[in-house]
Amino acid sequence: MKWSLAAAFAAALLIGTSAAAQTPIVIKFSHVVAVNTPKGKAAEKFKELAEQRTNGRVKVEVYPNSSLFKDGEEMDALQLGSVQMLAPSLAKFGPLGVRDFEVFDLPYIFSSYDDLHKVTEGPVGAQLFKKLEPKGIVGLAYWDNGFKDMSANKPIRVPDDYKGLKMRIQSSKVLNDQMKALGAIPQVMAFSEVYQGLQTGVVDGTENPPSNFYTQKMNEVQKYLALTNHGYLGYAVIANKKFWDGLPADIRATLEGAMRDATKYGNDIAKQENDNALAAVKKAGTTEILTPTPEQTAAMRKALLPVHKENESRIGADTINAVYKAIGFKP
Ligand code: LMR
Repeated sequence: MKWSLAAAFAAALLIGTSAAAQTPIVIKFSHVVAVNTPKGKAAEKFKELAEQRTNGRVKVEVYPNSSLFKDGEEMDALQLGSVQMLAPSLAKFGPLGVRDFEVFDLPYIFSSYDDLHKVTEGPVGAQLFKKLEPKGIVGLAYWDNGFKDMSANKPIRVPDDYKGLKMRIQSSKVLNDQMKALGAIPQVMAFSEVYQGLQTGVVDGTENPPSNFYTQKMNEVQKYLALTNHGYLGYAVIANKKFWDGLPADIRATLEGAMRDATKYGNDIAKQENDNALAAVKKAGTTEILTPTPEQTAAMRKALLPVHKENESRIGADTINAVYKAIGFKP
């Protein structure tokens, strides 16, 4: 009798402790790119640091490659709380009703990562995050990818070459206007569908930094890649605000530290990842790389710069001017 009481007591204790140990806070983190990319690797780093530094009180489940939610679904899922964290590209906030982020899509606005960081790591970046709060979303960090190149199955060197091409874009009005300015036909398509879209000819071409181009095997279905560097692609890491604010304060502080360090890690490798991906595309030998001459770049700039003015009222003149000022851009 005595023994069984003691055993029952010990068992209860054990169950108590293991139940606490077994119910970590789970963060589902969904994204659309491959693991082997700047974003994919930064997400894995965040998971590693978050789990280590909270001693397992937090478990981060990373779902890459649109395996949980794809474009067009993930923002709703975040707002509904079906997923706690995302890192959508800055070009995907328009459908949410926050159009200011499309400032990052303006052609030729950033000429280097240094320029970009003046915005993402400065007051303008912080002000943009504030605009997400009424949507029930909190902005945690900006993650870099890189500068976009154009691809197609015919040589694309000057604006005329784009006439009539169906070009896949992300859900950004600025990108829509960018393709139109070249005489192309923009088509919004989820990232998870791009390879097939290119393969079947639903679209003729697209734009992305080399890392996405290579890791989605677009080189198998695109004969030309023009190193246009005409625009930037990067991310906002965001969380469901109710979830984030509801975390125990010590956990939230630890996660913020993990996010800071994962951000530094990801942003430090972004350029190298893209350089490596471009080298891999060259090595694969399936896609001809076109390096624009200064005259070709000038022709592209001339065609694309009017997109800034065209989108002034959509993005907001204040936001555009704040970015121009931060980087010393003269339109
Ligand atoms: C795209 O849809 O082309 C990109 O936003 C994918 C990504 O997340 O890098």
